[in-house]
Amino acid sequence: MINKMDMMADIEQVLIGEEDIRRRIQEVGAQISEDYRGKCPILVGVLKGVVPFYAAMAQAITIPVQEDFMCVTSYEGGTASTGKLTFRKDIDHDIQGRDVLILEDILDSGRTLKLIVDMFRARNPRSVKICTMLDKPTGRREELEADYVCFTIPDAFVVGFGLDYDDYYRNLPFVGVLKPSVYQE
Ligand code: IMP
Ligand code: MG
Repeated sequence: MINKMDMMADIEQVLIGEEDIRRRIQEVGAQISEDYRGKCPILVGVLKGVVPFYAAMAQAITIPVQEDFMCVTSYEGGTASTGKLTFRKDIDHDIQGRDVLILEDILDSGRTLKLIVDMFRARNPRSVKICTMLDKPTGRREELEADYVCFTIPDAFVVGFGLDYDDYYRNLPFVGVLKPSVYQE
């Protein structure tokens, strides 16, 4: 059972602290600003997990960008991707001829991003790249890599800084490993 009164009691270990996350976002944001200098990319956030990362990364990027969001779900409350994706919201912008930078909370199996990238490519953008806060390479099922990775993490189910279990824990300001007892019960 999720102890809604004490989120910390459900955390086994803090994996990445808030300061480290913010420092790394500044670094990657500076790199993106350099790589896209003279361009005006569309930052596409994949809801809902990307929200805190998106907010911080958008501010760390110092060149003009346009902002957009889409919503896809694949988990339906569990800790393993169901492989079945539901599109809940498409982006608003026409991306033909544009540079698209997708922001994601975590790249795990790669199924979510593979589907989004393929869908975007069919709309003839000038480029499509991926920036992810976390990369869990051991979970990969699709041949897909991110262009920008803030942190590579081991094979554990993590929550916080946007990442959820059953929509809880997103508001923790760090990335932590969830106690397996929380989802095994
Ligand atoms: P993928 O399609 O398997 O790459 O999964 C991407 C999505 O799965 C992410 O946007 C997350 O919502 C979710 N996800 C994958 N691993 C974790 C995790 O360790 N904690 C919480 N959510 C996760
Ligand atoms: Mg999720």
